[in-house]
Amino acid sequence: MKVAEIFENMSYGPAPEATDKVFLWLEDHRQSSLLLIDGQWVEPLSGNYFDSINPATGEVLAKVAQANAADIDRAVGAARAALPGWQALSGHQRARHLYALARLLQKHSRRLAVLESLDNGKPIRESRDIDVPLAVRHFYHHAGWAQLLETELPGQQAVGVVGQIIPWNFPLLMAAWKVAPALAAGNCVVLKPAEFTSLSALMFGELCQEAGIPAGVVNIVTGDGETGAELVKHPDIDKVAFTGSTDVGRLIKQQTAGSGKKLTLELGGKSPFIVFDDADLDSAVEGLVESIWFNQGQVCCGCSRLLVQEGIADTLVEKIKARMATLRVGDPLDKGVDMGAIIDPSQRERIDALVQQGVAEGATLWQPGGACPDTGCFYPPTLLTDVESSNVVAREEIFGPVLSVLSFRSQQEAIELANNSRYGLAASVWSENINRALDVAPQLKAGVVWINSANQFDASCGFGGYRESGMGREGGMEGMYEYLRPLENRPMEEDIPMPAPQTSPRGAAGAGIDHTAKMYIGGKQVRPDSGNSIQVLAADGSSVGLVGEGNRKDIRNAVEAAHKAEGWSKTSAHNRAQILFYIAENLSYRVEEFARRLIALTGASSEEAGAELEAAIERLFYYAAWADKYDGSVHQPPIRGVALAMNEAIGVMGIACPDGSPLLAFISMLAPVIAMGNRAVVVPSQRYPLIATDFYQVLETSDVPAGVVNIVTGERELLSKVLAEHNQVDGLWYHGTAAGSKLVEQMSVGNLKRTWVNHGRARDWMSHEQGEGKQFLREACQVKNIWIPYGDSI
Ligand code: NAI
Repeated sequence: MKVAEIFENMSYGPAPEATDKVFLWLEDHRQSSLLLIDGQWVEPLSGNYFDSINPATGEVLAKVAQANAADIDRAVGAARAALPGWQALSGHQRARHLYALARLLQKHSRRLAVLESLDNGKPIRESRDIDVPLAVRHFYHHAGWAQLLETELPGQQAVGVVGQIIPWNFPLLMAAWKVAPALAAGNCVVLKPAEFTSLSALMFGELCQEAGIPAGVVNIVTGDGETGAELVKHPDIDKVAFTGSTDVGRLIKQQTAGSGKKLTLELGGKSPFIVFDDADLDSAVEGLVESIWFNQGQVCCGCSRLLVQEGIADTLVEKIKARMATLRVGDPLDKGVDMGAIIDPSQRERIDALVQQGVAEGATLWQPGGACPDTGCFYPPTLLTDVESSNVVAREEIFGPVLSVLSFRSQQEAIELANNSRYGLAASVWSENINRALDVAPQLKAGVVWINSANQFDASCGFGGYRESGMGREGGMEGMYEYLRPLENRPMEEDIPMPAPQTSPRGAAGAGIDHTAKMYIGGKQVRPDSGNSIQVLAADGSSVGLVGEGNRKDIRNAVEAAHKAEGWSKTSAHNRAQILFYIAENLSYRVEEFARRLIALTGASSEEAGAELEAAIERLFYYAAWADKYDGSVHQPPIRGVALAMNEAIGVMGIACPDGSPLLAFISMLAPVIAMGNRAVVVPSQRYPLIATDFYQVLETSDVPAGVVNIVTGERELLSKVLAEHNQVDGLWYHGTAAGSKLVEQMSVGNLKRTWVNHGRARDWMSHEQGEGKQFLREACQVKNIWIPYGDSI
């Protein structure tokens, strides 16, 4: 092209990144790559390999090993063997290892970026400026956590051997997000990269060796979904950390149910990008480019639903189109390219199929002309207008460069539309009115909210979703807790075996007089829907009364009442604290009556009953004390701004109580749940439910708003199953048998609700170590990070 022609059309010249060093490295992997197990590069026992392809050209880059069950077994064994040595190191020694890794990643940053762009198809500008620097930052940040572990996270120990499964959209970055906190906490890992993008993990493995990470601490096994499944089901794994699709996440939750394996899931999303009519529209357009056209839209937290206020919708759409026309789609290794290749033809077909379905359902399609190269796996930036909220493109994760536009009239409608999704990963809010933005952010059901910005990440700020976007957080202190478990000062015992429930027709306890203790739903005492009652037997076998036999319908009514009480989640922490103090005060007036009931029910001595009452009152004080102190923190990520980490209520929570210490256990589970602003549906001790039904009067005299605490008596396993299956229940704590724990974990996959179960181990509720603590508060809330940039530009 002549200079005159360049002046004429002002097109960019090519600016290719050099690939020679990476191709030299690839020479060793052309024929076959190896697995990193126990500090050695070994051939897969399977003897099988698959191609790793450059999506921009179709060229085979390497033959990657397909690990099988035997390979996984070797890797898990190596990690287990390495665990004692790794844990014996001081936090400082582990910090030095993580620091060494951070430095090495930094030293090899260009090589890693080029390899990533070759293997994944993402623009070199992104792998060079975002993926690799953020991976480095993760190791630095977590070197810090390793150093501070003993003082800042006391009473905790590493979970053990962790299986980590990552996706293909940010291969190196996701490896860093997984490996850095795991190692900082003292775990050993088996990492399985995604089959499309294994190469940067292999290069990372070499850097682990160079950094002197002890053999077996980091093992890397490549392979496809089957390899991942083998890792998940391996009996010697203590935790699974997964990032990927919601369908596979759900499968993993089901497969690990009842195993006692700790689980974190980072899943899909359909995040909203909300633009109010007082927003800076040009900035919002740039925000969209960073959000949905970043990494070709293959981003779990990409905001693929644009919600725009009606009055500015046309103007904004025109500006978006004008900007889309300038996006350069092409060779990922060209430094002037904005969008690279889609990971695989199968993914491109999936994107196109969803777009076509969206059009068939009424959407209008717009794509800039001539955007894509003729060869390679590319998809143009795509805009869909005239989208109804029922349209597939407004509901399903497309995982491609596709933006769907919906409009709203009022702020309330924007919030409702934003929350009208089974997902809840991220959201972006655009308004020059900071009051409005800060009012909207907490009302969005999303783990991350960016105000006047999009796709900001940092190792200091937790990342993760609500609802079907997953459970758990990565990054920050909350991310560290995912790789730790409390030091058990005393081993927990097996739970008390429960006698078979005895059902008798209503009224059987007294001729003509209904002595049945009713249920407590929506602030009212109500009869069970079944019309049946269960006889309550004292410790000596004598009958002491009847309680209603709760069923599915009672649970449904209780959940409905709890939803109506959402004002509780918005009330101030001070108010919640006051009410918990008040419950304690009212219980203290009735100590003798409750003690008598405990003695009659459980056969406890009067000293034991008195001690349980005292402990129950103290526990109410404990959570009243925490209610206005367990608040979040302010992070200072590397932007001009802050990120507010807020502890938010989970929503409506089910609680299934054990039989041991029936009053104290009931209060120990209920108090933290309501202290953090949740509303509860409680199934009290099946064996001694009368202690909970007596408690209604205490609740009624303590100004607890109707619906905040609902109590349904009956068979614990049956009612827990109903709670687990209920899609309007957001979290469930279960304290009972091992079989019941498994059932709860299995049945909760529908809406992927948060579960916390005891696997059949009984707590000593009287002890401060086991019966109370921050773990209860952590399990009763979720962290939302709200990013707030300052100044006119970020
Ligand atoms: P995927 O969820 O199947 O794969 C993610 C990882 O899980 C890979 O390492 C894969 O080998 C592994 N895996 C697959 N099946 C497994 C199993 N049964 N047990 C254990 N591990 C297993 O995602 P895929 O097929 O690559 O993409 C499908 C769709 O998922 C995409 O179109 C996108 O919508 C979504 N996705 C979402 C991601 C996110 O971060 N939210 C990341 C990747 C995909």
